Amino acid sequence: MRSDHPRRFANSSSAICESLKMAQERTKEFLGREQNCVEVGAEKTRLFYVNEKVVRQLMEEDAKGDAATEALLEHLKTHDVKEGIYEGGLKVWEGALDLANFLLSGACDFQFEGKDIFEVGCGAGLLGILASKKGCRRVVVQDYNEEVLRFFTRNNFVINDLDVEEAEFIHGDWQALAGILGPEQFDLIVTAETIYNEESYAKLHDLMFKTLRTDGKVYLAAKVEYFGVGGSLGAFLHYVRKQGKFHAEVKWISSSAVPRKIIGLKKTAPS
Ligand SMILES: C[S@@+](CC[C@H](N)C(=O)[O-])C[C@H]1O[C@@H](n2cnc3c(N)ncnc32)[C@H](O)[C@@H]1O
Repeated sequence: MRSDHPRRFANSSSAICESLKMAQERTKEFLGREQNCVEVGAEKTRLFYVNEKVVRQLMEEDAKGDAATEALLEHLKTHDVKEGIYEGGLKVWEGALDLANFLLSGACDFQFEGKDIFEVGCGAGLLGILASKKGCRRVVVQDYNEEVLRFFTRNNFVINDLDVEEAEFIHGDWQALAGILGPEQFDLIVTAETIYNEESYAKLHDLMFKTLRTDGKVYLAAKVEYFGVGGSLGAFLHYVRKQGKFHAEVKWISSSAVPRKIIGLKKTAPS
């Protein structure tokens, strides 16, 4: 009788694993409905992200029991980006794609393998996903809204066949995070379309300066001007130069009607 136990246990645990695997596959199938796909780099690396309709459906389900999700859904019915409420993370902005293409181009000499990377203001998390696919050791992605991470970013890791347990998802305001996160943790910080609000420059700057290793790099993608909201690349670079803690260099310029750039930042001194 006793000798049966381990086998019975092994059987039931493999049955549990099997049903977990099936549940994961079903979740993936649901998330993958009408999923979006972008191709980046010369080798056309495919990055997937969950369709907005599916994200909304998941949020509506959750809103039945979660007041914060309900409030965000209510806000999204009539508004878009609004400071302190929703910071634009539920869609993919051009800057994220510019940066993904740049990271895979000959103009960027960063070697991902074994490195620690932080995507600040991640939204869909496509840069974190790319870094995971390229063999980074540690991938941390951050968004202001916890709901963005829960319903969009995490699920994007799933549909890109990545293990969500291997990435770190953090939410909150940059100022609070700069107080919580330890110093000098990352070899690379990437951030796209995060400088549209001049009020946020100090906290974004300080978070990046604190968490970047002395020999690390920041790549920041942005529009030259954010019409109607006040932020601009010129104003951000002016702020950065005034602080004197980073050396800034233009790495890429778009040829589009609304110009966009990628800026590289390196520390001028340790934090
Ligand atoms: C316009 S979205 C860009 C999303 C993504 N990087 C892209 O390009 O698709 C701005 C991002 O910055 C984050 N963000 C903006 N202001 C923030 C703040 N004060 N604290 C924390 N995150 C902030 C938002 O949560 C969001 O992820």
